[in-house]
Amino acid sequence: MVGKVQRQAVPPLGAAADWTIDQAYADYSAAEHAVWSKLFHRQLAMLENRACPEFFAGLRALELRADAIPEFSELNRRLEALTGWRVVAVPGLVPDVVFFKHLSERRFCAGRFIRSPEQLDYLEAPDVFHDVFGHVPMLCDPVFADYMVEYGKGGLKADGRGLLDRLARLYWYTVEFGLTQTEEGVRIYGAGIVSSAAESCFSLESPSPHRVGFELERVMRTPYRIDDFQQIYFVIPSLAELRRITLQDFSGLYDRLAQCDDIPIAKLLDGDLVFNRGDSSYGSLPKA
Ligand code: PHE
Ligand code: CO
Repeated sequence: MVGKVQRQAVPPLGAAADWTIDQAYADYSAAEHAVWSKLFHRQLAMLENRACPEFFAGLRALELRADAIPEFSELNRRLEALTGWRVVAVPGLVPDVVFFKHLSERRFCAGRFIRSPEQLDYLEAPDVFHDVFGHVPMLCDPVFADYMVEYGKGGLKADGRGLLDRLARLYWYTVEFGLTQTEEGVRIYGAGIVSSAAESCFSLESPSPHRVGFELERVMRTPYRIDDFQQIYFVIPSLAELRRITLQDFSGLYDRLAQCDDIPIAKLLDGDLVFNRGDSSYGSLPKA
């Protein structure tokens, strides 16, 4: 789930004041469970040697079922014991502040619905497969779990000061589309990638996108795409390093950023640590 600006200020009918709803687990149909199962098996095969060790450790610890959509109450028993996080069901995207508040209190908002069999590969709104399979294994890692709490607190601080666009980029390029170095090479930890068969492969193996070292200020100056594969991915040295870098107070950084232009999405900078110089061969873009 990505914290997107929503105009609607009040929760929809049937949702609580904090926008949560009941998962209504018994209402899922056999066809819906079958979609989960199909996606689960496909991703498990795809992610071997591609996802980071922390992701697999989380997946194992949660004992996620392959054959059925997880029941949040059961999932939460394991998750809470590991890092104090819980998953709560929401009707769809929630306002930024609501999302940040939940994060800061170790609650992750997850969509209740699951995509239809016709939409296995692409959907506009995050569903239960993206939110649970994609995000929750990483929330089992104590370091990443803390990073997410700090992100929520940082969002509440930045809200109303016109800084959320910048902060959203950090979320996008880490929580959703992040890559990390490991002893075995570059691996995926971003939920947007691990829940997508095509992007799991594209993000690591395509010659098209740039892959460059994570640099906080640079990331916050880089716009992102919501309608296609990313044109640039940022590689962190480790989760611990990501947490260390973002632990600093961002006030000074925000002041500096106010004086800086955005960086065109496909542009490499002199200071970039380049893992792959993208050739823009994917899609209809003219060659760089
Ligand atoms: N340290 C950030 C701040 O001072 C908060 C934050 C932490 C934001 C981690 C994002 C991720 O605002
Ligand atoms: Co997400």
